[in-house]
Amino acid sequence: MARILVTSALPYINGIKHLGNLVGSQLPADVYSRYMRARGHEVMFICATDEHGTPAELAAAKAGEPVAEYCARMWQVQKDLADGFRLSFDHFGRSSSARNHRLTQHFAGLLADAGLVEEVSERQVYSIDDGRFLPDRYIEGTCPNCGYERARGDQCENCTKQLDPTDLINPRSAISGSTNLEVRETKHLYLRQSLLRDRLREWINSKTDWPVLTTSIAHKWLDDGEGLQDRGITRDLDWGIPVRRGEAPWPGMEGKVFYVWFDAPIEYIAATAEWADATGQDDAAWQRWWREDLGARDVRYVEFMGKDNVPFHTLSFPATILGANHDGAEPWKLVDYIKSFNYLNYDGGKFSTSQGRGIFMDQALEILPSDYWRWWLLSNVPESSDANFTWDSFQGGVNKDLADVLGNFVSRVTKFARSRFGDSIPDGAYGPDEQAVIADLGRRLAAYEAAMEAIELRKAAQELRGLWVVGNEYLQGAAPWAAFKTDPARAAAITRFAFNLIRLYAVLSRPFLPDASAKMLEALSQPDDAWPDDIGEALATLPGGHPFSVPDVLFQKIEDARRSELEARFAGV
Ligand code: MF3
Ligand code: ZN
Repeated sequence: MARILVTSALPYINGIKHLGNLVGSQLPADVYSRYMRARGHEVMFICATDEHGTPAELAAAKAGEPVAEYCARMWQVQKDLADGFRLSFDHFGRSSSARNHRLTQHFAGLLADAGLVEEVSERQVYSIDDGRFLPDRYIEGTCPNCGYERARGDQCENCTKQLDPTDLINPRSAISGSTNLEVRETKHLYLRQSLLRDRLREWINSKTDWPVLTTSIAHKWLDDGEGLQDRGITRDLDWGIPVRRGEAPWPGMEGKVFYVWFDAPIEYIAATAEWADATGQDDAAWQRWWREDLGARDVRYVEFMGKDNVPFHTLSFPATILGANHDGAEPWKLVDYIKSFNYLNYDGGKFSTSQGRGIFMDQALEILPSDYWRWWLLSNVPESSDANFTWDSFQGGVNKDLADVLGNFVSRVTKFARSRFGDSIPDGAYGPDEQAVIADLGRRLAAYEAAMEAIELRKAAQELRGLWVVGNEYLQGAAPWAAFKTDPARAAAITRFAFNLIRLYAVLSRPFLPDASAKMLEALSQPDDAWPDDIGEALATLPGGHPFSVPDVLFQKIEDARRSELEARFAGV
């Protein structure tokens, strides 16, 4: 049994996330966590809301709420949606937690003690009309790199280049739109991550098994020289974690807070501490996941994120972690594997919050239960390239995979058995047809498991579907309804085998389709639900005489008229 720490990139607090966000980190992290738990490993699956920085302040201002209240409310909204999508976090924390305040200040103190923090007097954009500095997203303008006109002060959304507010061409305030701006002097803390370049490079180079998407982005940043420029880790904002050097005040930094990208990844750790607090445990309970000297050496840490997050997780956060142990001070856990994703587009274009284009998590759950979405999203997860949502493709996935294959199998078997054999599974011994299916399933299960271990989720979904198809084809060929007339004993054996297939599919499908899996297991009176070691044994689990019920239809088909209606409704303005 291994210990596996899984984190999903933290969703910004500023609004409900769309399906592109969901499939870019939280959902794949969930499938992986569920799978690893099913295999008997000890899993810690952590997520949280990312609550600081200008996005939170801007969204709160727009909602007309104090930022603390806005964040508390939106945390609950996001938590409920996560539950709705069956995201099985061990803890869903908040980056504004007391734990994160303390840990972020603690890390800043360690970095300063190691000589990795510099106080820099710098020139920042000040808005005369707004009466304040305009860090990060408080300022917009044209990207000097790609010409995108709505680039933000911290990063260009179009080309992912990290920016400083003073880099922008034709800058304007994102609060008021004012261009009445000037540059003023102010003092900030810089993380001297350039001093860690060699160690970071060596570390990235050692990760030969990482997805190319991850390492190529990391190398691009390491090599273009700019990626590891020393960066400001403080801001002139009210909302955030006050700058302190560990527990001590930081002279000259009064009224300033840490930059959101400094404190957000530390929340992975802090959320694990929040989990320990919430479950009444001591510090040792979370430290054994995060501190190499306190039990985390045998933990495998896997991070999930969209490609725009890769620079922060391959360079900035590791710089914090490495820096904290610069003088052998405190050995915190570095990530072992980074799974990153491309983007999901909506009908050939971008998902857009402002234009109401695409599907948001709350809307999705109003339309159909979470399993429908989980299946389409995961079987189309943007792994090797960007993916594209269309209602046509969604309809096809739901109707062809879920309704026609898995749902149909369960329905045919249970209904046939009810009409011919009553309310318990008939007995019968398997023959050569069943042995052939067992051999085929054994090979396919190995492929499914290999894909899950490698976190190749699109492939895993295909393999899982392949396992369902084998059962359907078997049932079609064995035709127990025909056999019943000539050889009822044979029909009984086929039926018993088919029930055992339902149990097997419930277990194997659970990471992808937790609700359907639960319904299938319930219809089989909650049988043993352990992951199969040996397919032949697994398919002998349910004996003759075991009770069953006929479940409600597992998956409703999406009719053409409904598809057209949804297409029109989400076309955007
Ligand atoms: N909120 C960021 C985003 O949505 C991700 C933060 S991940 C963390 O892009 F590591 F910083 F927490
Ligand atoms: Zn750009």
